[in-house]
Amino acid sequence: MVSRTTLLCIAAVAAHASAADLNSLVNLFIGTGASGNAFPGAAIPHAMAKVGIDVSTAPRQAGYIHDNSSITGISLMHDEGTGGNANGGYGFFPLFPLTNCTFAACPVGIGARAALRKAGADAAQPGYFTTTFVNGIKLETTSTRRAGLIRFTYPTAGPNHVVVDLTNDLGRSFEGGALALAAAAGRVRLGGTFLQSYGPSNYTVFACYDFAAPPAAGAQQRLVAFGTYQSTNLSAPSSITIRPNGTALSFPWTGDSVSAEQAGALLSFDAGVVLARFGVSFHNADQACANAEAEVPDWDWGRVQGASAGAWEEVLARVGVDTAAEDATVVELLYSSLYRASLVPANLTDENPYWESPYPFYDAFFCSWDTFRTVHPLLSILDPREWAGIVSAYVDGWRQTGFIPECRANTKAGYVQGGSDGMIPLGDFAVKYGARAAALGVPIDDLYQALVDTAENTPPDWYTVGRQNTAWKTFGYIPTDWVDPSGATGLPTREASRAWEYALGDFAVRQAAVALGKSAADVAKYANRSMNFVNMWDASVTSDGFAGFAQRRYPNGTFAFSPPNACSPVDPVGHSCARGTDNNVGFYESSSWEYSFFAPHSMATLVGLMGGPATFISRVDHYFATPYFLAGNEPGFLMPWAYHYANRPDLSALRVRNVLYKNFNTGINGLPGNDDSAAMAALITFHIMGLYPVAASKQLLIGSPLLSAYTLRNEVFGTTTAFRVVGFDKAGLAAAPPAGARVFVKRITVNGAPSASLCWIDFDDVAGGGEIEIEVYGDAAAAAAAGCGEGPNALPDSLETGGFPA
Ligand SMILES: *[C@@H]1O[C@H](CO)[C@@H](O)[C@H](O)[C@H]1NC(C)=O
Ligand SMILES: *[C@@H]1O[C@H](CO)[C@@H](O)[C@H](O)[C@H]1NC(C)=O
Ligand SMILES: *[C@@H]1O[C@H](CO)[C@@H](O)[C@H](O)[C@H]1NC(C)=O
Ligand SMILES: *[C@@H]1O[C@H](CO)[C@@H](O)[C@H](O)[C@H]1NC(C)=O
Ligand SMILES: *[C@@H]1O[C@H](CO)[C@@H](O)[C@H](O)[C@H]1NC(C)=O
Ligand SMILES: *[C@@H]1O[C@H](CO)[C@@H](O)[C@H](O)[C@H]1NC(C)=O
Ligand SMILES: *[C@@H]1O[C@H](CO)[C@@H](O)[C@H](O)[C@H]1NC(C)=O
Ligand SMILES: *[C@@H]1O[C@H](CO)[C@@H](O)[C@H](O)[C@H]1NC(C)=O
Repeated sequence: MVSRTTLLCIAAVAAHASAADLNSLVNLFIGTGASGNAFPGAAIPHAMAKVGIDVSTAPRQAGYIHDNSSITGISLMHDEGTGGNANGGYGFFPLFPLTNCTFAACPVGIGARAALRKAGADAAQPGYFTTTFVNGIKLETTSTRRAGLIRFTYPTAGPNHVVVDLTNDLGRSFEGGALALAAAAGRVRLGGTFLQSYGPSNYTVFACYDFAAPPAAGAQQRLVAFGTYQSTNLSAPSSITIRPNGTALSFPWTGDSVSAEQAGALLSFDAGVVLARFGVSFHNADQACANAEAEVPDWDWGRVQGASAGAWEEVLARVGVDTAAEDATVVELLYSSLYRASLVPANLTDENPYWESPYPFYDAFFCSWDTFRTVHPLLSILDPREWAGIVSAYVDGWRQTGFIPECRANTKAGYVQGGSDGMIPLGDFAVKYGARAAALGVPIDDLYQALVDTAENTPPDWYTVGRQNTAWKTFGYIPTDWVDPSGATGLPTREASRAWEYALGDFAVRQAAVALGKSAADVAKYANRSMNFVNMWDASVTSDGFAGFAQRRYPNGTFAFSPPNACSPVDPVGHSCARGTDNNVGFYESSSWEYSFFAPHSMATLVGLMGGPATFISRVDHYFATPYFLAGNEPGFLMPWAYHYANRPDLSALRVRNVLYKNFNTGINGLPGNDDSAAMAALITFHIMGLYPVAASKQLLIGSPLLSAYTLRNEVFGTTTAFRVVGFDKAGLAAAPPAGARVFVKRITVNGAPSASLCWIDFDDVAGGGEIEIEVYGDAAAAAAAGCGEGPNALPDSLETGGFPA
């Protein structure tokens, strides 16, 4: 029940939120420096079209880097914050504006045309991006879901030129394609095949560029010359022939032998401003043109940009804060993070070229290994409708292949990093929205079958989808040096971290079985398997005085030793820690030191294995001090909150602040690692809100927020939940708050009723409307003594100790 005073309180916060121009609080350049790979171009929420400029130097995973390197074009689709191929994925069919050249001698090739930006010229806001070259040409763009507008403003009246590049994507991976120019209609149609950036496959994509802008659009551009260009000789691709009046190019698929080819169209206009409309499609060029005509019929820049900005305001307003009263840096971090967390996955519904389906199609599950921890749980609170579409797309992937997709990247299956971690959001959806699944368009029986099939069956090659269940079910762990008699193969490394992720995946099935009323046998089976991570625990291994670590294990049961610090930030010797076939450590992008803490569904088991709460706490402290902690990668996400499981939420309160303020900020280098399809963005959001989601469950760890008050709106439930921090203290907004700063949780009430736990809160309370009051104090000793509170359920749940009751 929502009391009257609560309602007034919500109204007050909401009024502030809607009055604010939330888009103006978004800094799109956070994480566009050396390592974040964040995408700062134009896009609507969950868009297919992500339009932005591309730099000539790698790494450039999102096309853009906020440095002074030269620009090779403005292109139509990009990834958000991913790792993978340092050259990047997507970035196909770039346009490039040229001035001051004669048609037949214009520098159209990618090397010759590259141009520097004027210092400080890059600017962006949700739905809009612009920059200016040193030669004075200004670029601007705005977009819809599959289409948009690009405008070049030249320093002189013309003639001015536009290159339409057929062959250069970010990865320089062109495998073939074609271009057709219809001069009278001012239209260029393109299709090309390129490699995905993180996986073994290629994809084919199409675009349509229109240059016959109606005078009403404010453009008076007359096409005065046109033609095609291509490399004179593939052994010397930068020597290029421009063919005036040429209208067609065709490169039949020949593998990568044409990847260096420079080819495209060159158009000249008798105008100082050239407006281009584009559409993209994975079906064919006709569809790309139809998308442009349908989504940008009138070429009306103001309408397109206004609609994009409006869509973003709506997304951002789901979290309401009094932007004037709160700390400005926290507000900027919050809204910039919420922005990025709604860029991907990309809604490619109606653009699935691979199979007919009535269900949604989404791309950029890149990878579920990155996003299950924070991105999906954030969607579960703020955007259940979009999330349902995404979940449905995961289930539809299973319908086609028999397995839940793991790392769909550039529309094709990418590499599996560990477990089949798409299982976790599906289990989470069953737990949180199982009862509403039909209304949300998710066939819940299919979802459950997708989970079971992925938990039981083994694909012939589990490197791109699924898991090595043959091994998991035979041994109860993932053995080292085992030849699978079934003939199934995959990348055999990362045995220990895969097993620990498989265990969590099985927990997700168990959770779905409970939520959906499946048989007690199913519940018991997957609960049992979810505890099998202990089978890879070698109690005899010690490191820095701590005993018991996850280790690889042979089929005969003997453990295979690797140093627990291997692949940690302080690894004294070089190891192969990613997907190299020479990874002989047993862990993926992490160490045994870190993965030995990874059992979010039964942390009490780890507290026990490590020797009890006191040892656990000193082990977590040591992990941060050494540091074995790496803020820039996902396996460490939960760690600042780990103290909750040892009844010391006061230590988590300090550690979360320390990690946040030492590693994240609003600068271009404000992310400690890749944004990873917004995994970092969603993590920052949770830290700021004083919450951390427990995987595939309704529990969230709770602590003291970095805001004095905020609201969360859930459109499906029709609720707004108001969080209010009683005694909020801005002195707590620091890496090391001064003694006495009120950062410790003293009391939590949910709609006036005291919460039995100071350590966790139920999803139904977070998303259920009403008011959550968090009273904070600065008495560290009292907070340490109070722990998670009194009562049997004060600690967050662990399966082994009877948590997550069926
Ligand atoms: C670009 O930036 C780098 C690093 O900041 C600097 O060393 C270099 O001089 C700059 N180059 C130009 C052309 O401004
Ligand atoms: C135009 O190009 C010519 C020849 O490359 C060059 O000398 C001249 O400086 C350029 N003018 C402008 C305004 O860029
Ligand atoms: C790329 O596409 C072609 C034609 O569609 C196909 O035959 C080929 O096997 C693909 N190559 C890769 C590496 O996926
Ligand atoms: C192509 O370029 C290579 C390398 O510059 C050169 O050896 C070869 O003679 C050229 N072929 C033709 C047909 O011009
Ligand atoms: C291109 O077409 C125009 C118009 O028909 C013509 O005037 C011109 O000579 C042509 N150029 C070439 C190189 O064929
Ligand atoms: C995804 O795109 C399709 C096609 O435009 C649209 O119908 C659907 O509502 C979108 N999904 C969500 C969850 O917005
Ligand atoms: C799981 O089942 C096996 C076989 O029945 C049993 O030996 C084991 O103790 C069970 N594990 C747990 C954690 O219940
Ligand atoms: C188990 O297998 C490993 C690897 O082949 C071997 O080194 C070890 O001695 C074996 N242990 C036992 C008890 O046979």
